[in-house]
Amino acid sequence: MKQASRLQLFDNWARNYDNSTTSENDDFPFTGYEMVLEQVVSLADVKPNMRILDLGVGTGNLAARFFNKGCKVWGLDFSAEMLAQTQEKLPQVNLVQADLLGDWTQNIQPPFDRVVSSYVFHEFNLGIKIGLLQKIRSRYLSPNGIILVADIAFPDVDIRTAASQYWADYWDEDEYYWAKDETIIACEKIRLQVAYKQVSNCGGVFTFVDKDAG
Ligand SMILES: C[S@@+](CC[C@H](N)C(=O)[O-])C[C@H]1O[C@@H](n2cnc3c(N)ncnc32)[C@H](O)[C@@H]1O
Repeated sequence: MKQASRLQLFDNWARNYDNSTTSENDDFPFTGYEMVLEQVVSLADVKPNMRILDLGVGTGNLAARFFNKGCKVWGLDFSAEMLAQTQEKLPQVNLVQADLLGDWTQNIQPPFDRVVSSYVFHEFNLGIKIGLLQKIRSRYLSPNGIILVADIAFPDVDIRTAASQYWADYWDEDEYYWAKDETIIACEKIRLQVAYKQVSNCGGVFTFVDKDAG
C-alpha cells in the first residue's frame, strides 16, 4: 500500500520535479543538489563506453552527466511519468520500468562498471538498503566495479537527530536518511568497503567497493 502511494507521488511530481531541485530552491532536502550529482560523477571516474546503471533515474539529471561523458547508460525507475521525462531529454538512454523492491532483472544486461543512484535510497530502511547493495554487488556489478549512492545523508546518527529537529517542518518521518557511522558498521558485516563525502549540509555521496573483488 505504501509503495502504491509513493509511486503515485512520483508520477504526480514528474513534470514539476526539476523545479524542485534548482538552485533557487536550494534548501532541505535538495541543498547543493547540483554539487552532489557532480561529486558522483567525479568519484565515478568514468571512461567513454563504460556501462552505467542509474537506479531511480527520475528525470535523468544524473544519467545525463554520464551520457555526456560518452558512457552507455541504463536508467531504472518505477514511475512511468518520471521515465517519460527522461525519455524526452535522453532518448539514447536505455530505460526500464521496475520496482527496486521487486524483481528488476528484466531487460537489464549486467555487468555494469558503475551502479549509481541519487536521492532514492532514503525510501528504504537501513536493512533494505543493505539488501539492495548486496544484490547490486552480486548480480549487476562488474569485477572492480563501484557503487555510488548520493542522497540525503549525515556524518553520524547524532547529527541526523539534530538535523531532524532543525528541519522539523520539512523532515519526512516516512523516509530513512543515511548516517555514515551506522552505514559503515552495517557494510562491514557484508564485506563492502565504504567511503563517504559530505557535500552539503544534508547531502552526501557514498562509495561502495567489494572488499573481496580483484
Ligand atoms: C527524488 S527522485 C530522484 C530522481 C533522480 N535520481 C535525481 O537525482 O533527481 C526519486 C526517484 O526514485 C524513484 N523510486 C522511488 N522508489 C522506487 C522504487 N521502489 N523502485 C524504483 N524507483 C523508485 C522515483 O520514481 C523517483 O524517480
